[in-house]
Order: sequence, then C-alpha cells, then structure tokens
Amino acid sequence: MAILFFFFFVSFIASFSFSLPEHHFHFTKHGLRQNTSSQSQQYLEITRPLPFANLAPSCTFHILTHDFGNTMGLPPVSASYSPPANCSWTHVALQFNASSKGTQYDRIAAVWLGGAEILRTSTADPTNEGIFWTVSKDVTRYCSILVNQNISLSVMLENLVNDIYTGVYQVNISFLYYDVKKRDVSLSSYLDSNRKLKLKNEVLVNNLRSEYEQPADLILPISGNGSEGFWFRILNESELHGQRVIIPKNTYKAVIEIYVSSHGYDEFWYSNPPDSYIQMNNLTTKRGHGAYREVLVNIDENLVGSLVPFPVIFTGGINPMYWEPLVSIGAFDLPSYNIDLTPYLGLLLDGEAHFLGFGVNDSIPFWLVDANLHLWVDNNCALPCKVHTKALAFRTPKFKIKRSSSFLGLDGSVEVEMKRKSEMSFWVNSTAGYLTTIIKRELKFKSKINFYLNGTEKNIKQKVKEEIEVRVLSDSGGTISQTKVKRKFPLTIISKTLASRENGTTLMLSDLDHEWKEKKKSDGGSSSSLTNRQHCNGWMVVQDHNVIHGGATTQQTYSYSDDVDCYSRIISAANGKLVNDTANSLCAAAPLKFGSFSAL
Ligand SMILES: *[C@@H]1O[C@H](CO)[C@@H](O)[C@H](O)[C@H]1NC(C)=O
Ligand SMILES: *[C@@H]1O[C@H](CO)[C@@H](O)[C@H](O)[C@H]1NC(C)=O
Ligand SMILES: *[C@@H]1O[C@H](CO)[C@@H](O)[C@H](O)[C@H]1NC(C)=O
Ligand SMILES: *[C@@H]1O[C@H](CO)[C@@H](O)[C@H](O)[C@H]1NC(C)=O
Ligand SMILES: *[C@@H]1O[C@H](CO)[C@@H](O)[C@H](O)[C@H]1NC(C)=O
Ligand SMILES: *[C@@H]1O[C@H](CO)[C@@H](O)[C@H](O)[C@H]1NC(C)=O
Ligand SMILES: *[C@@H]1O[C@H](CO)[C@@H](O)[C@H](O)[C@H]1NC(C)=O
Ligand SMILES: *[C@@H]1O[C@H](CO)[C@@H](O)[C@H](O)[C@H]1NC(C)=O
Ligand SMILES: *[C@@H]1O[C@H](CO)[C@@H](O)[C@H](O)[C@H]1NC(C)=O
Ligand SMILES: *[C@@H]1O[C@H](CO)[C@@H](O)[C@H](O)[C@H]1NC(C)=O
Ligand SMILES: *[C@@H]1O[C@H](CO)[C@@H](O)[C@H](O)[C@H]1NC(C)=O
Ligand SMILES: *[C@@H]1O[C@H](CO)[C@@H](O)[C@H](O)[C@H]1NC(C)=O
Repeated sequence: MAILFFFFFVSFIASFSFSLPEHHFHFTKHGLRQNTSSQSQQYLEITRPLPFANLAPSCTFHILTHDFGNTMGLPPVSASYSPPANCSWTHVALQFNASSKGTQYDRIAAVWLGGAEILRTSTADPTNEGIFWTVSKDVTRYCSILVNQNISLSVMLENLVNDIYTGVYQVNISFLYYDVKKRDVSLSSYLDSNRKLKLKNEVLVNNLRSEYEQPADLILPISGNGSEGFWFRILNESELHGQRVIIPKNTYKAVIEIYVSSHGYDEFWYSNPPDSYIQMNNLTTKRGHGAYREVLVNIDENLVGSLVPFPVIFTGGINPMYWEPLVSIGAFDLPSYNIDLTPYLGLLLDGEAHFLGFGVNDSIPFWLVDANLHLWVDNNCALPCKVHTKALAFRTPKFKIKRSSSFLGLDGSVEVEMKRKSEMSFWVNSTAGYLTTIIKRELKFKSKINFYLNGTEKNIKQKVKEEIEVRVLSDSGGTISQTKVKRKFPLTIISKTLASRENGTTLMLSDLDHEWKEKKKSDGGSSSSLTNRQHCNGWMVVQDHNVIHGGATTQQTYSYSDDVDCYSRIISAANGKLVNDTANSLCAAAPLKFGSFSAL
C-alpha cells in the first residue's frame, strides 16, 4: 500500500486540532529515543566571530532573565534599559542565551529596544537531556537607541507547555560594551615591537567602521503597538501594515531595515503547490498559492522596494535531526534586509507624515514583519536648515512574472519566474556637498517544483539572485565611490514519502542543499565575500508530527573574507553529534589591498 505524500500531509493537518500553529514539514522529536548522552548539549549556528569578540568588554549589562513557559497570547516581557554609567564604548554586542529541556516545538522570538527590533531569532527543539545555545550579534548600528536612558527592552517568545510539550525556554539577555579605540591606545606600548599588530588594529577600526558605515543618527521603528509583539502580522497579500512617520528636514540619507519571518501555512512557502494542483486533486490543504513570495515596501501609495527573503528553516523543519546540533542558516539570527530609501527623500522631506507600509505578495497566513528606518542627518545643517534633494532620471521599474504548470493527477510540475529591474538617479545637496547617486538593481526569482510517483516524491528547486550597483558622483561629475553587491540564495529540497513497515507510520527521506552567497566589491571602500552552505541528508519514521526514529547528516562550509579578515569553517554532524570541525582565521595568500600593508 502506498501512502500518498499529499494525503499524508492532508490527514496530518486535519488530525491536528489547533491551539498550536500548524506545522507542515514540521515535526517534534517527541517519541524519538534520544539517548546519545545524558549531558546538556550545545547547539550552534555557524557564523564568524564578531570582529571585536577577542577584546574584553568595558562593561556588561545583564538585562533580562526569563523562563518562557506558557506564554501563548501574552504580551512581550520587558525590562528597563539605560546604558551603563561611566563606561566608554564604541561597539555593542547583544548576547541572547537560551536553554531548554524536554519536548517542544521550535518557536519564533524577537528582541526590541525602544520599540525597534534588534534581533529576530528562533528556538531549537530541545531534547530530554537538555540543550543550550548563545546568539551574539553586533548591534552597534543601533547606537542611537543604545545611548537612550530608561527605554524598554521587550522580548516576545510565545510558547505552550502541557503534559506532552514540556520544554520551557530559559533566556538570559546581556549587552556587552566594547571600546575599540581604547585598545588602540593600550596597544601603542606594543608598537615598536609589533608594528604589524598596530596596523592590523587600525585596519580593524576602519573595518568596523565600514561594516555598516557609520551608524545612523536616528532610528524610527516602523512597528506594531506591542500588545501582540511589535511586529505586524500579515495574513494575506491584500494587507498592508505600517505606520506614519515624519522625518527631520535635515536628513540626507535613509535606509529601511526589514525583519521578516514566515509561519503557519506559509512557513514553507517555497514548497507550497499552486491552488490549481490542490483543486484538481480535491486536496483540502490550505498551504497553497505556491511558490513565489516577495515582501514589498511602500511609501504612501508607491512601491519603493522589495525583497525575496532567504528561506530560513526552523529546527523542526523538514527533518528535525538535520538541526542537531547545527541549526539552519539564519535560524538563531535571522537576517534583516536593507533597502536604501534615499532616492525617495524628495518625497519624505516635506515635513508631512508619510505612511511606510509592508505587504507580502501572494501570502497566506502568516508573516511577521517590522522595520527600522535608519536616518542620517546633516549635523552642520541644524534645523530649520533643510537638505535639498531631487530625483533625476527615473526609468520605470520593470516587473515580469511568468507562471506555468502541467499536472496529471498528483504528478507534474510548476514553475514561477519573476524579474524586477530598476534604475534611478537623484541628487542630495547637504553640507557634505552636492552628490549625485545612481542606483541600479536587478532581482530575479525562479522556482520549480516537480511531483513524481503519484505525488509521493517532491523536488523543489529555487533560486534568488539580486544585484545592486551604487555609484556616487561629486558635483564635478567625478566618481566618488562605486559599490556592487551580489547575493544568491539557491535552495534544493528532495523529499520522498513511503509506507513504513510499522503500523500507522510513514518513512520520509529527504535531501536539502541551501546557501547564502554574497559578494561586495567597492572602489575606494572595502570588499567582502561570504559563502555559507549546508547540505543535509536524512531519513525518519514519523507518526503524526512526531519523529519516532531516524538518522541525518549535515555538512556545512562557511567562508568569509574581506580586506583584512578571513574566517572559514568546515563542520559536520551525524545523528546529533559533531564529527568534523575545522576553523581557520588565517587568510590564505591574502590579497592585501591596503597601501599601509605594502609599506611594511
Ligand atoms: C538509554 O538510557 C537508558 C537509561 O538511561 C538505558 O537504560 C538504555 O540502555 C539507553 N539506551 C541506549 C540505546 O543507549
Ligand atoms: C569613572 O571611571 C573612572 C575610571 O574607571 C574612575 O576613575 C571614576 O571615578 C569613575 N567615575 C564615576 C563617577 O564613577
Ligand atoms: C551566555 O553564554 C556565554 C557563553 O556561551 C557565557 O560566556 C555568558 O556568561 C552567558 N551569559 C549569561 C548571562 O548567561
Ligand atoms: C542565565 O543566568 C542564570 C544566572 O546567572 C544562570 O543560572 C543560567 O544558567 C543562565 N541561563 C542561560 C541559558 O544562560
Ligand atoms: C523610567 O520610565 C518609567 C516609565 O516609563 C518611569 O516610571 C520611571 O520613573 C523612569 N525612571 C527614570 C529614572 O527616569
Ligand atoms: C494594537 O494592535 C492590535 C493588533 O493590530 C490591535 O488588536 C489592538 O487593538 C491595538 N491596541 C492598541 C492599544 O492600539
Ligand atoms: C485578507 O485578510 C483580511 C483580514 O485581515 C480579510 O478581510 C480579507 O478578506 C482577506 N483577503 C483575501 C483576499 O483573502
Ligand atoms: C474531485 O471532485 C470532483 C467532484 O466531487 C470529482 O468529479 C472529481 O473526479 C474529483 N477528482 C479527483 C482527482 O478525485
Ligand atoms: C547646494 O547648496 C548650497 C548651500 O545651500 C548652495 O550654495 C548651492 O548652490 C547648492 N547647489 C546646487 C547645485 O543646488
Ligand atoms: C495515486 O493516488 C490516487 C489518490 O490517492 C489513488 O487513487 C491512485 O490509485 C494512485 N495511483 C497509483 C498508481 O498508485
Ligand atoms: C494496525 O493498527 C490497527 C489499529 O490500531 C490495528 O487494527 C491493526 O491490526 C494494526 N496492524 C498491524 C499489522 O499491526
Ligand atoms: C570527517 O573527516 C574525516 C577525516 O578528516 C573524513 O574522512 C570524513 O569523510 C569527514 N566526514 C565528513 C562527514 O565530512
């Protein structure tokens, strides 16, 4: 007897009565004989160390300790924040520690400071022996908020605890303050004996500066009122959520930073079949509208930007054993996305309130979205002095979407291709000069899903590619800077569902390959390159949404380099244990571009 892939999901969904969010491709390890060790195990997301992590913090502020037990439907937990007194710092790290023991679903969580989101994270599925992890994030770019006295830190982590789902998430949050300049001074005594160290340190300072460039002077949160978390809950594509803002008239640069995660019927949006497939086969699943999604940013009625998010897979996703103890790319520190809104300053600088809103194309319930509007103001132009700006050429953005599908019963294929292309130029006249900027952007999305063997085998192939080129010209027309950023998010998932010999159970086989690839090239600035790839393979026997037994391997390669720093790590895990782990922070044949180095 063949158990049908889709029927499996349908019955699986139908038999699940919800106070919990629905989970498709989504499991817990309840029932799994987890007996590998009796010790609490550390989970981790592979990333490079923070550039200042080897310095001793000038001060540490342990701001919150909280056990998230039955928190479903409750407002966020909060604590009062003020920067430490008498502490000199230039950089700040947020440290989010968590531990849990028992059985539990992965949960989504976020940390807001003064209403601005500073971390979106998800939890790892615990085991009976217990697990713990640490997320360290450079939050220096939120400096203009971190200097404020007596503001509120809020944390949302909705969890449900009962006889079956016993895992409570225990969370500690700290801020670590670093003085990178002070290290410069303390290092001067080493100077004569080690000039190289000194130079490296200077470059470190420069590099830290260029990482996000200078932090914004002002950050305006575009977020909800906080009663259900400060994020907006987007249920479908006709919803546009946002807030009205008034920005200072001496603003010369504006960037919107968007935090986003997908849940419920859209948690695995990239694997959803089209509605026609569902209807044709009389399926009752609500996970349709496949398989293109795009987050849109509006100012008033105008679309001003968009992004296709990296598909972050939470730790119950696809095969929960993939994520023991190496979690999926972005699972502990979900990426945020920056869109330059400077071209629209002409619209925003009129002193009036403008609506900044977010929507998700083709979405079904639900998406959690909010944003921070980072503003740089001309400090040599004190209000009511006004920065002047004007859009020049505005080639109408091109948008194309092509969908095709062909099905015979539960077999067949569906393809979606989307392309967005825009080019614009504008000038800004501030006390920094009369600068003209040209921004070219191209976003390409391609998805193909194939169903075989009466729908019991499903192959998903998705590619997202983005290219952004920014050129800044001086008033004499000379190029001041030119930056090119390329990003690629390829994703391949193969999954097969078979009847299992055990009664009422299903055998599921899967293979996943996904990657975050990014290259930044800059004339007169810093360049960097990042490749972060995971390949997972596994099997499991499931009953309802519980994994009874199985096996999995995960291999990850992480490789980062910029003008001064390199970091690479090759790590793998098999059946919940790390088997190989090699890290290297030496730059192999480093192509040092800094003039100061060639002088050595
Ligand atoms: C699991 O743990 C129990 C008790 O700690 C032990 O009796 C049993 O032998 C273990 N099973 C395996 C497969 O390691
Ligand atoms: C601030 O710190 C410095 C050096 O650590 C110390 O000398 C000074 O007394 C401190 N001031 C206050 C007000 O605590
Ligand atoms: C968080 O974890 C790190 C290491 O994993 C540890 O050094 C730090 O003390 C922990 N912080 C808190 C507040 O528990
Ligand atoms: C949180 O901090 C408390 C007190 O310092 C400590 O006992 C606990 O182990 C910490 N938990 C985590 C997850 O870091
Ligand atoms: C901090 O803010 C709270 C409420 O917003 C207020 O009750 C409290 O007095 C403030 N504390 C200080 C030191 O300003
Ligand atoms: C806050 O937002 C929620 C959800 O949008 C809404 O239901 C609630 O009424 C709002 N509360 C306040 C005090 O505005
Ligand atoms: C979208 O959701 C709103 C409720 O938030 C509902 O009123 C509306 O009918 C929905 N639209 C579609 C197309 O489903
Ligand atoms: C779907 O339902 C319709 C009407 O009940 C029926 O005519 C059709 O044969 C069904 N299709 C499949 C594939 O079961
Ligand atoms: C830029 O602003 C300065 C000072 O306000 C003004 O003198 C100059 O004419 C402006 N340049 C252009 C090209 O508008
Ligand atoms: C394919 O699945 C349908 C629906 O469950 C079933 O009626 C049909 O017999 C299956 N065909 C084969 C060849 O297994
Ligand atoms: C499978 O389970 C059903 C109901 O629980 C039972 O009637 C049937 O005998 C079982 N079959 C086997 C092969 O164990
Ligand atoms: C781990 O490393 C060993 C030797 O270094 C190698 O033989 C093995 O293939 C590696 N395993 C994985 C899963 O990469």
